[in-house]
Amino acid sequence: MQIFTWDVAYAVGDAEIDEQHRRLFDLANELLRADTKSAVTAAAIQLYQYVRVHFKHEEDLMRRIGFPGYRQHVEMHARLLDELNALSTDIADGQWRTEDLRSFMNDWLLVHIAEQDVRIAAFVGNSTERAGAH
Ligand SMILES: [Fe+2]
Repeated sequence: MQIFTWDVAYAVGDAEIDEQHRRLFDLANELLRADTKSAVTAAAIQLYQYVRVHFKHEEDLMRRIGFPGYRQHVEMHARLLDELNALSTDIADGQWRTEDLRSFMNDWLLVHIAEQDVRIAAFVGNSTERAGAH
């Protein structure tokens, strides 16, 4: 069962970020599909590692382009990693609930991408236009 489906509506307009977001959708679906503790643990570790790779990519990009919302965006990433850590602790304790995982993914995948990551891509677009105008 595919619980999260990437759609062009989630495209932020940067090819590499979009590709990484698609991969995160896949990893989120694997986590939600996992039905044993060891499968959930393995999927959560994979997701966590890829989230870190992805956040680093976004943060490097924001620094490179001088994105004005850099500090706030990095703080949001730190909070999301904290939440993911808390979920990992629940998993380790055998306390996870699929509903908690699903709502975290929903908040992160959908809301963060649609409301925050899109701003980075919009700023990249603006700086490209400015550079082109010179
Ligand atoms: Fe982000």
